[in-house]
Amino acid sequence: MSDIVHVEKLRSLRGSLRVPGDKSGSHRALMLSALASGESTIEGLSRGNDVAATSRIIEQLGALRSDDGSRITVLGPDEGLHASVRPLDCGNSGTTMRLLAGVVSAIPGSHVLKGDASLSMRPMDRIAVPLGLMNASVTGIGPHVMAPLQILGRDRLTPIDFLVPIASAQVKSAILLAGLSTTGSTTVQENVRTRSTTEDMLRIAGVDIVSINQGLGRHVTVRPGRPRARHWQIPGDPSQAAFFAVLGCVHHDAQIEIIGIESSPERIGFLRVLQRMGGDMTVRTNESTVDFIAKSSTLVATEVIAQEIPSVDEVPILTVAAAAASGISAFRGMGELRLKESDRFAGALTLATALGCRVWSEGDDFFVEGIGSAAGFAAFTIRAGLDHRMVMASGVAAMAGQGCSIEGAATVASSYPNFFEDVASLQ
Ligand code: S3P
Repeated sequence: MSDIVHVEKLRSLRGSLRVPGDKSGSHRALMLSALASGESTIEGLSRGNDVAATSRIIEQLGALRSDDGSRITVLGPDEGLHASVRPLDCGNSGTTMRLLAGVVSAIPGSHVLKGDASLSMRPMDRIAVPLGLMNASVTGIGPHVMAPLQILGRDRLTPIDFLVPIASAQVKSAILLAGLSTTGSTTVQENVRTRSTTEDMLRIAGVDIVSINQGLGRHVTVRPGRPRARHWQIPGDPSQAAFFAVLGCVHHDAQIEIIGIESSPERIGFLRVLQRMGGDMTVRTNESTVDFIAKSSTLVATEVIAQEIPSVDEVPILTVAAAAASGISAFRGMGELRLKESDRFAGALTLATALGCRVWSEGDDFFVEGIGSAAGFAAFTIRAGLDHRMVMASGVAAMAGQGCSIEGAATVASSYPNFFEDVASLQ
């Protein structure tokens, strides 16, 4: 894909799609398969660059991998993973770096984890502190411990009971993965329930792990153990489905069906937000997945608090919904947005401003006065800043509005290489 993409306004959108496999589930399926002894298989794996980075790294650590195009087979070595003499290149992927930091903390030897320009600006102190308490050594650049990371892994780590001070599934997961190799029980407490992908998949793989809801948060306790090899079927990625949900609602002539996305409550808050805004959404819950149909709607402003979108991944695209709504939408407690692949706090405000909205912020809250209809959006040019979600959010605004040019659009391949082709299939 050329790095400047011109996105045209689309006349009408009809059809049904499956979005790529859940990125969170894909990273974890690869890691748990590599940690297991013997052959695991994975279907529905995300084909984005982020998950490809995790694939390459588990091979460097000693797992064998083959891929027939639809099914990936991973052979975890009986004797366990080993350190690699070469740096582990996590590319643009925070999940790769943070979760693998937990994994390699329990692999004796020295490890170097590096990333691209975006990942090298993201704080890793949030994992360095708990992994340090577990007796691994994680060092990096500056007070926020930025990549490249040097990690000294140990055979047996010290169990901890740790309250994660921010809402972060990545931090929780790094500790739980390291907790597989301790001398006792490791507990992670979170004040906000973040996605439970790691705990759910560890339990399915036979690890002794208990999760208890406590008020708005939860306590998760894991005991040392090795995941069992098995088959993983990865459901569709809700965070990718969110782009189609908003596109369906804000486009003047759309009916878009998305089938088979992961259904955990921490992942599908965006559906509730859109319904509250008056979005014409039909939601069908199956055994373990959700389908929805999003149709052209007249949206009204709402208030979104960070806890209902715990990793704030869907906030940039919900900002586009707010821009198309009538009234002033409030997004509260959005500080974590500043620490994603780009500063999405600034990026969301820049995008809404480019569309023609009045916007302002107070501390970690921001406000968007909507235009009342995406037909009123201005044409615009935007820089994606190595941030796949800003590419897709901008693309959706442009398709429903008056088009745009996106500089750095190739970064969409971090999570959704075929995003623009999939949208084109709906015309
Ligand atoms: C993820 C957790 C989230 C999210 C990221 C994937 C995961 O990050 O933004 O895209 O798979 O655990 P935080 O846990 O740091 O909020």
